Order: sequence, then C-alpha cells, then structure tokens
Amino acid sequence: MKNQNVSRRLMLLCILSFSFFSASSLAKKFDDLALTPPMGWNSWNTFACEINENMIKEMADIMVSSGMKDAGYQYINIDDCWHGERDTNGNIQVNPKHFPSGMKALADYVHSKGLKLGLYSDAGWKTCGGKPGSRGYEFQDAKQYAAWGIDYLKYDWCNTEGLNAEGAYLTMRDALYTAGHPVVFSICEWGDNQPWEWAKDIGHLWRTSGDIINCWNCEHKHLEGTENEWSSWGVLKILDMRHNIRQYAGPGHWNDMDMMEVGNGMSKLEDQSHFTMWAMLASPLIAGNDLRSMSKQTLAILTNEDVIAINQDILGIQGFKYQTANGVDVWLKPMANGRWAMAVLNRNDDTVEFNFDFVAQGVIKDVLSDKKIDLKNTRYQIKDVWHNKMLGDTTQPLRKKIQGHETLTLILSM
Ligand code: GLA
Repeated sequence: MKNQNVSRRLMLLCILSFSFFSASSLAKKFDDLALTPPMGWNSWNTFACEINENMIKEMADIMVSSGMKDAGYQYINIDDCWHGERDTNGNIQVNPKHFPSGMKALADYVHSKGLKLGLYSDAGWKTCGGKPGSRGYEFQDAKQYAAWGIDYLKYDWCNTEGLNAEGAYLTMRDALYTAGHPVVFSICEWGDNQPWEWAKDIGHLWRTSGDIINCWNCEHKHLEGTENEWSSWGVLKILDMRHNIRQYAGPGHWNDMDMMEVGNGMSKLEDQSHFTMWAMLASPLIAGNDLRSMSKQTLAILTNEDVIAINQDILGIQGFKYQTANGVDVWLKPMANGRWAMAVLNRNDDTVEFNFDFVAQGVIKDVLSDKKIDLKNTRYQIKDVWHNKMLGDTTQPLRKKIQGHETLTLILSM
C-alpha cells in the first residue's frame, strides 16, 4: 500500500514536471492578436503616476459613451505606478490606496464594458517610476496578471543594466504564454536594441523611440548634463527618427511610435497631422489624453473613420515616403481593394501651394509589398478625409493650399 502511494506520487510528479517543461518549451507569443495595430488609451502621457481605479473606470465609461469604442478603440492601459509592494511570497500587489478594490475587480469592470485592460511592468528590478519591476519574478507576475484577467502588457526597460534585451523580452513572452491568458505584449525598450530585428516572434509591437512629448518638433532634455540625461521628442522628431524599418511591420507585429498626444495642447492641424502620420505608419493608436474632458474637436480627430481605416487596413502595410521637396513630404500607403492612402505633410510653418500631377507619376510600385498604383491609365477618385470631401479624380492635377503643419490626407479609390 505504502509502495503504491510512493509510486503514484512519483508518477504525478513526473506528469507535473513534464507538463511544466513542455508548456514552457512550447511557449510562443499569442498568435492572432493585434492583426491590425492595437487601438486604445494609456494613462501615462496625461497622468503619469497620478492614477486610481475610479479614474480608470471613468475612462472605460467614456470610451464607450463617446463612440471611441465603436470607432475601434479597445484597450484601457494602466501605465506605471499602479503597483504596491510584493507580499511575503513575492506576489505583486496593487497600490491599496489608489486601487482599493483590487485589479481583478477593475478588470471585471472594464471587461463588462466590452473593453480590455492593460498593465505595465519592467524587465529590470524597478520600473522607470521606481516601482517593483519583474526581473526574477517574470513567471510569478505573468501568473498574477492572468489571474486578474489582464489582456495587454507594456514591458519597459529601465534599471536593466547588464541584461540582454532579446533574452529579457523572450523570458516574459514565455511567462505570459505559460500563464495561459492571451496578452498583447508591448515591448518598450525605446528602439535602443533594434527590437524590429528580433522581436517579431516575441512581441506584438515595439517602441521605436524615446518618449513622446506634446509638441510638434521639439526635443525636451531631462537631467541635462548628468550621465542619466535623456530626451523626450515631438511628433516630427519621432517621425524622422527611424528609417528603413517598415519591412519589419505587419499583421501581429508593429513599429510603435508611442502613445499619442492628440488633445494634449498642440494645434488642431498638428493633432490631425500627428494622427494621420501614426495611421500612415501603421503605428498603434493609443490615445494619451484625458478622455473625460476632451473637446469635440479632439474626439472628432480620434474617431475619424477614414484615418482609422488607413491605420487598420487589413493588409497591414506600413506607409512609405514617396517624395520630399521644399519641406513637403508625400507619403503613400497601399490598402486593401486597390485603394491607396496619400498624406501630404507640410513641415513648414507657412502655407504652401501643392501641385501634383497624378498622371505624370505613371506607375508607382512599392517594391516591399509588390503593390502598384497605375496613375497613368487608371482613374482614381480622391477623397480628402479631414474635410470629408471628394476632390475629383486623378486624371486632373491636384492644386491645393496646405497650411503650415497641416497634412492633406487623401484616399484614392477606383
Ligand atoms: C518610460 C516609458 C514611458 C512610460 C514611463 C513610465 O519612460 O517609455 O512610455 O511608460 O517609462 O515610467
């Protein structure tokens, strides 16, 4: 009898170890998530560490009542500083003052609205805001997030001295997969280790730059003159920061140009340009403003259905710069059903007159995607999406005044 018990226990142990090792050795990223760039809201750009459960619930409420959910926004992402301490078993807990009902209750609330909840952690021993990081606790944290029902994890890169980025993100990917609850995995190492080269099978999106700030073309230095100096960047700076990485983007794996600053103080035209360019580059559309107090204008920008269609196009092809002259860039993005998006960004402070002879362009070929647009022989209807107006067709040259910092945003369809 005793021997039987021992062998039963041994067998159980074997089965358990086998399932643990096979689960982690079969680990991969969750497929079929983020087949188009994720859309949602994140707390950091406006609130930094000033967050609490009531405010997060209000964001979920307004995401539904404002029509943002219907426009495609889905994730409510809590950034840094939701954390309390680890308990004596090492389990991460919420800050009890700011999240008194706990994270599971908050996730249940957000899910009851038909939305998804995201959290933030860090590959190092502390987050950028000085809260407990996941280093050494990856599997334990991932299990906790799964128990709470977390759907999206942004994973930062502060306090990681000596760590290998690919290894650190792979560890967390495996931990999330093993925990078993589908999670969009958002890599946030600012492009320092070229994640586009190695992260396709690890994460669903990766930041390409340092932090965004709410200005058009500025660089804002922090801790200037110290060894910890770092910069945050305006919209144009982020747009110009990386070249030749569009081939790395596609369904399930995106270049992330950072959470947006729409509604956070730039002009209407700048906000529209910002939104257009994030759409053209197939970047995730994560709003970073206070949704509760946004103006009608901000809401109209964030929910423009044509610009969102450019971003969410199922082909998932990141746009490319076709032409640049006198501070005016022309960007193109192939879309499904033979449509093309075209964005004419006036980087200058002053108005320019833009003249474009479509027919003279002939056949434009995007070598990367093998998509062609034959402007010589095919007539395309032109829609100006910010003005919600048809502008005729491509058989006639286009002549348009474009104000400083404005982006004329067009969809060409047959
Ligand atoms: C880093 C990230 C930001 C934000 C903060 C939080 O700077 O890049 O997006 O998450 O940390 O501390």
